[in-house]
Amino acid sequence: MTYRSGRHFLQIPGPTNVPDRVLRAIDLPTMDHRGPDFAALGHEVLDGLRTVFKTAQPVVIYPASGTGAWEAALVNTLSPGDRVLMFETGHFATLWNKMATKLGLVTEFIPTDWRRGADAAVLEAKLREDKGHTIKAVCVVHNETSTGATSRIGLVRKAIDAASHPALLLVDTISSLASIDYRHDEWGVDVTVAGSQKGLMLPPGLSFNAVSEKARKASAAAKLPRSYWGWDEMLAANKTGYFPYTPATNLLYGLREALRMLQEEGLDNVFARHDRHAEATRRAVRAWGLEVLCAVPEEYSSSLTAVMTPPGHDADHVRKVTLEAFDMSLGTGLGKVAGKVFRIGHLGDFNDLTLAGTLAGVEMGLGLAGVPHKKGGVQAAMDYLAECARKPARKAA
Ligand SMILES: Cc1ncc(COP(=O)(O)O)c(C=O)c1O
Repeated sequence: MTYRSGRHFLQIPGPTNVPDRVLRAIDLPTMDHRGPDFAALGHEVLDGLRTVFKTAQPVVIYPASGTGAWEAALVNTLSPGDRVLMFETGHFATLWNKMATKLGLVTEFIPTDWRRGADAAVLEAKLREDKGHTIKAVCVVHNETSTGATSRIGLVRKAIDAASHPALLLVDTISSLASIDYRHDEWGVDVTVAGSQKGLMLPPGLSFNAVSEKARKASAAAKLPRSYWGWDEMLAANKTGYFPYTPATNLLYGLREALRMLQEEGLDNVFARHDRHAEATRRAVRAWGLEVLCAVPEEYSSSLTAVMTPPGHDADHVRKVTLEAFDMSLGTGLGKVAGKVFRIGHLGDFNDLTLAGTLAGVEMGLGLAGVPHKKGGVQAAMDYLAECARKPARKAA
């Protein structure tokens, strides 16, 4: 491989660019995870995570990718044959649904056109119909990474309450946690699933379950087989700052650093920054004369934007030429939208100039790929960023 000078632009919607502070933290010598110094690290990350999930409840950390934490959420709370409602918001919701089916759950997969989030009114109607309360859980992907649509979990909660239904609420925040406002306790979520490699600015390898009291009660009766994923032993060990099996020590150093960085910036500022970059990106897309995949403005994702290429123009070709010419990776279209969209990740460790560089790469890539478009997308984004910089809304962290 030839050396390419400058930094690669990793603008896929996760894994995201890992900041130098986190890389340096991970670079520490590995310590004894049963030794006397470990507990301080364990306690700091377990406590710090609660702030990010906005919960007073425990958060479980797995040495696993996000898929592991999906499985943990299901096997800890449900029993074979349980009915589960899921929304087909896109590729990741589809994978979670497949997993649930493989595990022996009976899912009802409510379709969408992959251009919007979960429909709270449909959910309420389904739950009202279920007079015998046979539906045991509702699973929603908060931010559908394949489409760039964010489901409104506050409305999902209201729908469940309006139907007075006792189903558990399980939410995947793998591409939203620490990027888009999220409130585990306030929204009455029972299990929140998350991963390390997106808003948390870490490499892949850690995933999480934030667990409500109701979910822990459900786990006592749940019959799906579990061992590695079981919450009981994990929560018992975590009380002392330790883990029942070998944790990913060096990733925990990185997590400690990332949590400190988020705290220094202030979560509200982090969310505002993601909102700003998403809006600037959409202005660029509109100026190019192209369309954003998400069709509902209230559900536009702040962590990524999926851009539709005109019919007859392969979105993967845009990605290929952009990578070759400008050393920038964009996200591929997944599942039903393969070849039809490319995705711009604007989450994690990111600033206005990283976005300007990213959009410049996309605009040049569209030209090289021969996609019909208008010039001026980068200018539209810069105008917006400059306007925001004139009236900074940054709050004290
Ligand atoms: C929303 C969402 N859920 C689940 C996953 C699967 O996570 P992982 O690939 O870390 O197993 C991803 C991965 O990108 C995702 O974006």
